[in-house]
Amino acid sequence: MSEQAGYQSGFGNEFASEAIAGVLPTGQNSPQKVAHGLYAEQLTGSAFTAPRPTNRRSWLYRIRPAAMHKPFAARDHASFHNRFDEAPATPNQLRWDPWPMPEQPTDFIDGLITLAGNGSAAEQAGCGMHIYAANRSMQGRFFYDADGELLIVPQQGRLRLATELGVLDVKPLEIAVIPRGVRFRVELLDGHARGYVCENFGALLRLPDLGPIGANSMALPRDFLTPHAAYEDVEGDFELLAKFQGSLWSARIDHSPLDVVAWHGNYAPYKYDLTRFNTVGSISVDHPDPSIFTVLTSPSDTHGTANMDFVIFPPRWLVAEHTFRPPYFHRNIASEFMGLIEGVYDAKAGGFAPGGASLHNCMSGHGPDAGTFEKASNAPLDKPDHLTGTMAFMFETRKVIRPTRQALAAPQLQGDYYQCWQGITKHFKEPGA
Ligand SMILES: [Fe+2]
Repeated sequence: MSEQAGYQSGFGNEFASEAIAGVLPTGQNSPQKVAHGLYAEQLTGSAFTAPRPTNRRSWLYRIRPAAMHKPFAARDHASFHNRFDEAPATPNQLRWDPWPMPEQPTDFIDGLITLAGNGSAAEQAGCGMHIYAANRSMQGRFFYDADGELLIVPQQGRLRLATELGVLDVKPLEIAVIPRGVRFRVELLDGHARGYVCENFGALLRLPDLGPIGANSMALPRDFLTPHAAYEDVEGDFELLAKFQGSLWSARIDHSPLDVVAWHGNYAPYKYDLTRFNTVGSISVDHPDPSIFTVLTSPSDTHGTANMDFVIFPPRWLVAEHTFRPPYFHRNIASEFMGLIEGVYDAKAGGFAPGGASLHNCMSGHGPDAGTFEKASNAPLDKPDHLTGTMAFMFETRKVIRPTRQALAAPQLQGDYYQCWQGITKHFKEPGA
């Protein structure tokens, strides 16, 4: 049986799943009594009145309703927050080395470190950009994020995401999205894990429109996988952690909240294998803009201008003639946070390591380093280049990305990043000179 057989396939589909057959009511969502003594509960991810294509909700049939827990109290987290105003936003190009694995026992939540972000949960726009480095599974605790959906990009180590709506196993080169509000626990299947998280405060991630590309290419809906219902009937003294308006809150709960026996709806976690991305590019000359590599997009209120795009730079053939083939020099109105899952990013000869990150803000000049420029502008173009074993990605946003104080103070910040453009040679000669 293939791994895919354990999941339901499709993006934003109306799924129906039962861990015990016969639980889902027929013909209505909330009968007077649910089968087997379960409680019916609706979880909405969009306004009740959102247009049908963007309306998201699921009905959960569970052992106890989600309301059953003790009161929340504010709980400090040293490094995971949404304080994007504590340091000046900078036009400097920034790059970080990979964060080390923790030395003390650290789970996914404790191992979150906020590097940058913009907007806020309160304005329902923008996103937080975090990394995680963990060496143990979450034990006796569960988490949900009321501030945004979580796009998780593993870079090292497999994760088991045990959620209210079922279990997702994700490994590097796969991504997972946990919807806003869904409670979950992260288990480490390899004893350690590191990766990136985008906390999207804005509109739900969706597949980009295709336009002239046609019905196919880029990410295909059928490659998005959603778990089947799975539940725990466990009692004990547990912690329920909530991320709410930028801060962490903690409550005691006397049972596992992962007690949904059956559910139906279109608001659910999903995963996607990035190696399935059907990459489109030029087969003549020049570059399409990197929007051609968009996997998922969170639209803003301005048509055509995303709150956040998740973009990848996957293995691909470069065949364009008369063209500087690597990513070109550029300045954009959008701001770009990049990470590297594996291999080498083709615009940089070194310094951008898997697990590291870079930040190029609105109108900050960047692009290939000096060595990459010289090599690529003199490379023979009569043969294709085959980029293999690489996967970089970008969280691209319309608003300026503001690094946190801890990101700017971290020893991982490369003070000499600007040097990679200082050796660029002046080739210009006036005609006749
Ligand atoms: Fe860029």
